[in-house]
Amino acid sequence: MNKESWGSRLGLVFAMAGNAVGLGNFLRFPVQAVQNGGGSFIIPYLVCFLLMGLPLLFIEWGLGRYGGQFGNHSTPFIFNSVSKKFIWKYVGIFGIFCNLTIAAYYCYIESWTLAYIFKSVSGAFAGKSSEEVAAHFGAYVTLSDSYMAVFFWLICLALNVYILSRGLSGGIEKVAKIGVPLLIIFGLILAFQGVTLKAGMKNAIYDGTVGLNFLWTPQFNSLWEPKVWLAAAGQVFFTLSVGMGSIQCYASFIKKKDDIVLNSLSAGWMNEFVEVVIGASIIIPISIGYLGIDKVVELTKSGGLGLGFKTLPYLFQNWGAVLAPIAGMLWFGLLFFAGITSSLAMGFPCMSFLQDEFNFTRNKAAMTFGAACLLLGAPVVFLGIYDILDEYDYWAGTVSLFVFSLLETILFVWVFGIDNAWATINQGADFKLPKFVKYILMYITPTLLIFVFVKNIPEIIDKIMHREIYHKIATTTDPATLEMLNNKLLFTNLSRLLLVAVFIGIGILVFVANKKRQKLSAI
Ligand code: TRP
Ligand code: TRP
Repeated sequence: MNKESWGSRLGLVFAMAGNAVGLGNFLRFPVQAVQNGGGSFIIPYLVCFLLMGLPLLFIEWGLGRYGGQFGNHSTPFIFNSVSKKFIWKYVGIFGIFCNLTIAAYYCYIESWTLAYIFKSVSGAFAGKSSEEVAAHFGAYVTLSDSYMAVFFWLICLALNVYILSRGLSGGIEKVAKIGVPLLIIFGLILAFQGVTLKAGMKNAIYDGTVGLNFLWTPQFNSLWEPKVWLAAAGQVFFTLSVGMGSIQCYASFIKKKDDIVLNSLSAGWMNEFVEVVIGASIIIPISIGYLGIDKVVELTKSGGLGLGFKTLPYLFQNWGAVLAPIAGMLWFGLLFFAGITSSLAMGFPCMSFLQDEFNFTRNKAAMTFGAACLLLGAPVVFLGIYDILDEYDYWAGTVSLFVFSLLETILFVWVFGIDNAWATINQGADFKLPKFVKYILMYITPTLLIFVFVKNIPEIIDKIMHREIYHKIATTTDPATLEMLNNKLLFTNLSRLLLVAVFIGIGILVFVANKKRQKLSAI
């Protein structure tokens, strides 16, 4: 039997905020904003936050607490407590699948931040050119100079397993209470540097405010481009950690009288503060201050992680021999704390499933999660040049989220019924939600979810058909590139098979768990 519980309300809010605040706030948000035209991104982003993000938080907290009352802590059986129709248990597979497969690559990125703390402090970037710092990252992640990345990855996994094995109040809550305030302080220090950067000082070419203006001056011209809306919705999902079964699990451990409305709003708004105030004031003003808008837009075209790992450590060197290592330590330190409080939140739902359904002890469940991350992460780590990470991120970290949130919204609002849903959300709340939120939950949130998903379909089909790789194959003549592309095709297909196998495997476990339950209740 699973006897976890939260130690205190403050701990719960910090853990939930730590769940949401992650690499996405500092690395993904700024890059998405730059890629989608700066000021054009902000309006769709805020609209998606208010009309999809917040409603989904209420839904997931509500589902979690409701299922928790019956002792269910993983989405297959949380959903089963809402509707006995067999299909909902299997929809719940997503809630374990997403956490596990996202953790498999997320822990790897997290381990880079750990390694980069040491590199910054030991002065590995001092006196290097921008090309050298960028090449350093390339060599690190493709394991071409050493297996250091593997070493840090194993340490990072071990650390996660250890904390998870200490449980909710003894492990996760303690780490969140230290990690979240610390990362906010580190972030505020760096954001202050970013915002007050002056042209001519420390070799900067532009004021830090040039970058901020680029981001914060609303632009109405691309408001009707579906691509911008997709990116905005995707970012809101990713940053709030909704649509993946993690919040439901944390919420299933809260008490009957706890205030979901206030707790979910506190955690949600804390995440937005860290994202749009702190997250936006570090990478963007600093990199634009040194490189200008055009160059930064150019840099983000080649992917999301470059600015943080290639560009910033180089730019920090302009701050002098004393400040550069400190800035590097603050930056990668804050990324590490942001990352670990999120990866713990991915581990816990997987553990709870094993503990609830298969009577695993906490230690055994934590070790099993670690072993699964090791196996699923191995292709990401060892086949780095074939971008397996992006493949996982697309299917598990993007497409699945839309499908899962749409289905859970239907379950909670339409199958369970809006009146039951409304009562569950407002139960124990000091301030009840205003009535119009009901209509948002019933009509607007599902409509937007369907709209965004339908708009995504052409891109999903392109991905399934490997259109991009085939296009490249058709247009190269260089034999080495051709071989690399063919390998990429092969390994991409294999990694997809692996993801499908994991999904089916979890499905089988749900089936077995359900049979066990039926036997028990027949006695
Ligand atoms: N929200 C986290 C971030 O901003 C990332 C994340 C994605 C996550 N999926 C998750 C966190 C699942 C916890 C559980 O980086
Ligand atoms: N594909 C992502 C992007 O380019 C990269 C990415 C994957 C990422 N996981 C992440 C970025 C987690 C930040 C945090 O945006």
